[in-house]
Amino acid sequence: MLNFDVVIIGAGAAGLMCAAQAGYRGRSVAVVDMGKKAGRKILISGGGRCNFTNEGATPQNYLCANPHFVKSCLSRYTQHDFIELVDRHGLAYHHKTLGQLFCDNSAQDIVDILLTECEWAGVELFLRNEVIKVERTEGGRYLVTTSEQVFSCESLVVAAGGLTMPKLGATPIGYKIAEQFGLKVLPTMAALVPFTLHDHDKARFDGLAGVSLPCTAQSEDGTRFKENLLFTHRGLSGPAILQISSFWRAGQGVIVNLLPDTDMQAQLHDWRQEQGNKSLKNLLSTILPKRFVEVLINEQTVPEKNANQLSHSEIETLAHALHHWHIKPNGTEGYRTAEVTLGGVDTDELSSKTFEAKKAPGLYFIGEVTDVTGWLGGYNFQYAWSCGWACGQAC
Ligand code: FDA
Repeated sequence: MLNFDVVIIGAGAAGLMCAAQAGYRGRSVAVVDMGKKAGRKILISGGGRCNFTNEGATPQNYLCANPHFVKSCLSRYTQHDFIELVDRHGLAYHHKTLGQLFCDNSAQDIVDILLTECEWAGVELFLRNEVIKVERTEGGRYLVTTSEQVFSCESLVVAAGGLTMPKLGATPIGYKIAEQFGLKVLPTMAALVPFTLHDHDKARFDGLAGVSLPCTAQSEDGTRFKENLLFTHRGLSGPAILQISSFWRAGQGVIVNLLPDTDMQAQLHDWRQEQGNKSLKNLLSTILPKRFVEVLINEQTVPEKNANQLSHSEIETLAHALHHWHIKPNGTEGYRTAEVTLGGVDTDELSSKTFEAKKAPGLYFIGEVTDVTGWLGGYNFQYAWSCGWACGQAC
């Protein structure tokens, strides 16, 4: 049996950050992971360049049944602290858009920084160790049985992630451990995920795969995101859709403002006056992708007329249709392609300062396994750094 002060299940973003911090406090730390590499999700994130934080991260960028839960860790270890860490390691990175920071070279640079920190802090890494079983001894220590060995520890940190991307080693072990110790786990759902479409919509948009347009996507609860929408072979994707998927529920619709920066009623009046003998198809194709305009014409959302043939009421109707384009997804692509898992270990069960379970002293839950989900844009990694750091001060 291997004895450590702290065992961390999961060599992902949250687990590695926590491990280094606990190690720097003088704790003996083991990180166990079933993968053959550490930080596998980091490596594929951000298209291989890892959107490692967001300069504007605030608690408002997170979904959680208790919206106050993330305030403590996000304020104790901020995006600026993480930026300072990567600066110290000489990381080359750039600002992309909307406060998102990406590596210039490769996401491997972020994994290397975390592994270097772990090495400096004396952390031991046990890869290819699948956790099979967790028990608590009468003396209050935790025993972790993996496919390879048994670990004994005073503090057990569960940083085993959510259910997204099973091919990268996602397992429900974190939720199972929570339930084993009597903690409530809120229902989980794939989030930051593309929508699939009903067959009739697939037929409508046939040929649009690859077409992208800036828009505002709005869910039925009124949440809106102004980013790009992308038609794919399977349905709808792009940042606007991924963002709104976290707020969408089965059976609901999504309203898309196709021209969020244009007052279409005024624009149509102008066209009628100044370019009246041009077709709406040609005029709209100057501000929307041409292939998409053809679809709008085919399904008669846009009349096949010249601008000067539009009546006042037709202008009103068309402007409304373009600002409130309604789409009813069939579902999502699910955990296979989702970036994150909504729901998870109920944060009411945890200390927001230390992430220790109130019902099980010495047992901690951090990262995606908890019921905290960030928006798209580096917010999920920032939560992993912040909660990993906070837990690492205490476990
Ligand atoms: P994470 O899932 O990273 O780690 C959990 C670890 O536990 C895994 O290594 C797994 O192998 C291990 N494990 C699970 N079960 C086990 C068991 N039974 N035994 C042993 N080990 C076990 N976020 C962001 O902010 N910016 C971005 O650019 C992206 N991009 C992105 C792209 C894609 C394709 C995905 C899928 C996700 C993103 N994300 C993202 C989200 C981000 O990757 C996610 O929020 C964090 O990786 C969560 O970190 P955790 O440490 O909580 O879990």
